Amino acid sequence: MDAKHLSVAERLLDWYDRNHRSLPWRSPPGTPAPDPYRVWLSEVMLQQTQVASVRPYFDEWTARWPSFAALAAADDADVMAAWAGLGYYARARNLLACARIVAARGALPDTEGELRRLPGIGDYTAAAIAAIAFGRRAVVVDANVERVVSRLFAVEHPQPDARPTIRTATDTITPDERAGDFAQAMMDLGSMVCTARSPRCLLCPLRDGCSAYTIGTPDAFPVKPAKKAKPRRHGTLFWAERDGRVLLVRRPDKGLLGGMRALPTGPWVEQAPGVQGAPFAADWRTVGVVRHGFTHFDLACTVMVADAADDTAPGEWWPVADIAAAGLPTLFARAISVVEGMR
Ligand code: ADE
Repeated sequence: MDAKHLSVAERLLDWYDRNHRSLPWRSPPGTPAPDPYRVWLSEVMLQQTQVASVRPYFDEWTARWPSFAALAAADDADVMAAWAGLGYYARARNLLACARIVAARGALPDTEGELRRLPGIGDYTAAAIAAIAFGRRAVVVDANVERVVSRLFAVEHPQPDARPTIRTATDTITPDERAGDFAQAMMDLGSMVCTARSPRCLLCPLRDGCSAYTIGTPDAFPVKPAKKAKPRRHGTLFWAERDGRVLLVRRPDKGLLGGMRALPTGPWVEQAPGVQGAPFAADWRTVGVVRHGFTHFDLACTVMVADAADDTAPGEWWPVADIAAAGLPTLFARAISVVEGMR
């Protein structure tokens, strides 16, 4: 039959059967669904992190904690340290809370509604797990799907107001069967063909019937909102060293990088705060500046170092030679490079 007469789902699934990415949390197209633990874990890891970054974490994580029960029994500090580098640390806390609930009830629930009630599982993740792990028809809309659908239907509203329209449009093309493959096919199409810049329309199985292609400006979709500059905040990171050991603290559970092991910091404020918040009075010297983009602001931190006169400041005195094993978030890892660079 002429491809034009096949539905969007038929054309996309046919493309997926031949072009899918082989990823460690997936089953090949058309085969039984993968272990729900692996689907759940991958979806949480992929919430704000790219596939290429998630892959090594996923392999290491599943080797160490292969099931909900194993993860539920893990030490909180080990889990937080293993997450270091993936960012958005509330996800790791929710992950552990969720694993403990699931281990206690025996299995992951298999409907979107019940999944959504678990910590760290929002609308997108609930739909993705229901479709991929349990084969349920669910409307799965992530950033890739938003891009593909906004082009297919040439959705004119800027983001994020376009979301309800995009969701409704996605619903109209989602099939009853193979909903998990369909969702992942949309993601693969979005990441390999219908890319944000320079989409490869000549390779696209959905080109016939794509409104943005017909108009001739696929990369104008999704329509972007007017951009607001992120505010900048300033802080100081303190590197206190004594006898080959550096002072580390644990950040409060609530707030940014909550529960993570960290270098001591002062407040994050509009003007550089200098030595405010230092763990002790000393001759603090500035050795550099590190920057990190958080969701709602960009942070620039001055890195200060001093020798500690004694080891009475509260925290852990961690061997400098073994600092890589401390599982410090990226902001602090950058500060370590600065300190190491001056040695
Ligand atoms: N992003 C989110 N979930 C994904 C999946 N299952 N496969 C590839 N990319 C994804």
